[in-house]
Amino acid sequence: MAEDAAAPHVLLICYPGQGHINPMLRLAKRLATKGLLVTCSSSSIVRDKLAAASGVSAGGAGVPVGRGRLRFDFLDDPFEGTELDLHDFLHHLETAGPPALAALLRRQAEAGRPVACVVGNPFLPWATDVAADAGVPAAVLWVQSCAVFSIYYHFAHGLVKFPREGDDARLAIPGLPALSTADVPSFLHASHPYKVLGDTVQGQLRNMARASWVLVNSFAELERDVLAALPGVTPRPPRLIPVGPLVELVGPGQDGGGEAVRGDLIKAAEECVAWLDAQAPRSVVYASVGSIVMLPAEAVAEMAHGLAAAGRPFLWVVRPDTRPLLPEGFILGGRGMVVPWSPQDRVLAHPAVACFLTHCGWNSTLETVAAGVPVVAFPQWGDQCTDAKFLVDELQMGVHLRAPLRREGVREAVDAVVAGPEADAMRDNARAWSAAARAAVMPGGSSDLHVQAFVDEVSRRAR
Ligand code: UDX
Repeated sequence: MAEDAAAPHVLLICYPGQGHINPMLRLAKRLATKGLLVTCSSSSIVRDKLAAASGVSAGGAGVPVGRGRLRFDFLDDPFEGTELDLHDFLHHLETAGPPALAALLRRQAEAGRPVACVVGNPFLPWATDVAADAGVPAAVLWVQSCAVFSIYYHFAHGLVKFPREGDDARLAIPGLPALSTADVPSFLHASHPYKVLGDTVQGQLRNMARASWVLVNSFAELERDVLAALPGVTPRPPRLIPVGPLVELVGPGQDGGGEAVRGDLIKAAEECVAWLDAQAPRSVVYASVGSIVMLPAEAVAEMAHGLAAAGRPFLWVVRPDTRPLLPEGFILGGRGMVVPWSPQDRVLAHPAVACFLTHCGWNSTLETVAAGVPVVAFPQWGDQCTDAKFLVDELQMGVHLRAPLRREGVREAVDAVVAGPEADAMRDNARAWSAAARAAVMPGGSSDLHVQAFVDEVSRRAR
């Protein structure tokens, strides 16, 4: 199409997980809103799930979003195994990914849509190399916090020493509060089963020189101290460019018409919004542990009984893979609703929601910050541990819920956030952060200006 031919074309590619697809898609919408042609890509392993749950179809001219267009195209990387075996799957991506991405870039050029910039992902460190080898400028979208970037960077370059596991010592990293070993991303712990992910990310951090931009899903006002400290670190890290929070801003026209395009891998139970409509303002506990955390059966049972004992309406996301773990005979009564997947952005924006019991994935963290909803922080692993500390101790918008999970603990934590002596202060803090988050992405806000500068430079280089 003529308008596609005129608009610079940016290809975004991400690790095929929900926590990576969402920020990619939301950045894609912002870039499209500003006039670019944007293609979102990932491993073919998610193609069918996205089609079934979100109606995403690959190829073609895509859909109009703002002044630009948004389309999908997947790598041709057939994979026989299961992505749950991380070693196998990362190895698959590392070997099948680079030639498949190179082929995708060629396909786009042949179709009259040469790619002007590839935006990669920290779990696909090879994407910047493929782009550079093809002579295409590259960026990375860092999908976690600046704090977590800084921690990984310090470890990757041996700038901090890890006390032995179980030690009480605190880690001192410029721009961050003193951290215990439990506060750093758990993939850095030598014994963690997903340590391979920590190693992959650190590998990427040692090799970012080929990326012209490191865009980050955060906003300057939220992580001012760590952003100010990073340029003084040696060896000097790349400059982080905050372009977030990459959240859906619920409200007509707020993302340039792209709100209809979703990237859910499980179909969202839209009926829970009507259920929320029938609840009193600020009465509902919303609970979710995101897309990959698997709670043990005992914890699922304690959560069930704890939510029921909290004495408030609750909306609980129990994914299909976790559903069999619900305690036998667990009856919701009229008070609770359990769904396999929620439209979380709409849920958090709903006036009936009083608090969010969250595993503190970075997307969920930013979404609750943007919505101004206080939290019960229940991290499990990875960057969730750092995000939980940040939400509770730094932003002061919630309380911790510690393992092992007990029903009394769930009830007490919910009470503390909704009705305890600090509840009003937590809500006020959450509201203030919500205002700052929204201001950052509105026209002229700090992140909006960063997105515009990126669009301008990509367009200039494409001429
Ligand atoms: C993981 C990590 O935990 C996260 O920190 C990392 O940055 C990316 O990978 P995940 O555990 O799935 O992601 O959590 P989170 O980052 O919160 O992402 C989940 C996404 O799914 C959020 O955007 C959330 O809104 C969405 N979601 C979750 C729904 O839309 N509906 C649901 O029912 C549950």
